[in-house]
Amino acid sequence: MATLEEVRTACEKCRQCALGETRTNLVFGVGNERARLMFVGEAPGEQEDLTGVPFVGRAGQLLDKFLFAVDIPREDVYIANILKCRPPKNRDPLPEEEDACIGYLREQVKAIRPEIIVCLGRISAMRLIKPDFKITAEHGKWFRKGEFWMTAVYHPAALLRDPRKKEDMLADMKTIRAKLDEGKHAQ
Ligand code: URA
Repeated sequence: MATLEEVRTACEKCRQCALGETRTNLVFGVGNERARLMFVGEAPGEQEDLTGVPFVGRAGQLLDKFLFAVDIPREDVYIANILKCRPPKNRDPLPEEEDACIGYLREQVKAIRPEIIVCLGRISAMRLIKPDFKITAEHGKWFRKGEFWMTAVYHPAALLRDPRKKEDMLADMKTIRAKLDEGKHAQ
């Protein structure tokens, strides 16, 4: 099995899609390499492309607030995206870009072996949970997939566009906190 550093090196060199040529920085992933909880977003935005760190822009700062609200330190979790390079003008990832990149995420998951994977938004949930995932109807529901518990929450950028969704987000984050606490008792 590859180490995270080996996977990062492979990503740095990757030119399996065109985004490797247009990015400023690779946005590989950040956080605790032994995290019990992993978040997976869609693709880097402008701030992430400039810094090389996922979820540092406005959406990321809002995610931080929700983590704080349920007492989950950002340093305890691991955060990555389906795509490691920014799509120009933040357009949705193309299927062929997801196909080219998803293997790296799988390697990250294998190396970290989290107990819980939380998809941030519809695109991540459709790729990781099921292709017909409906974020409005199914956010906060739990799915057992192999050795992982999986759920999806609204993408923080969707909460910026529609603050009425924040109440649901907080409720979902509380179920994630509870799932973490359940796992701790089982250890
Ligand atoms: N949106 C994402 O999906 N990922 C990031 O890293 C930033 C914004």
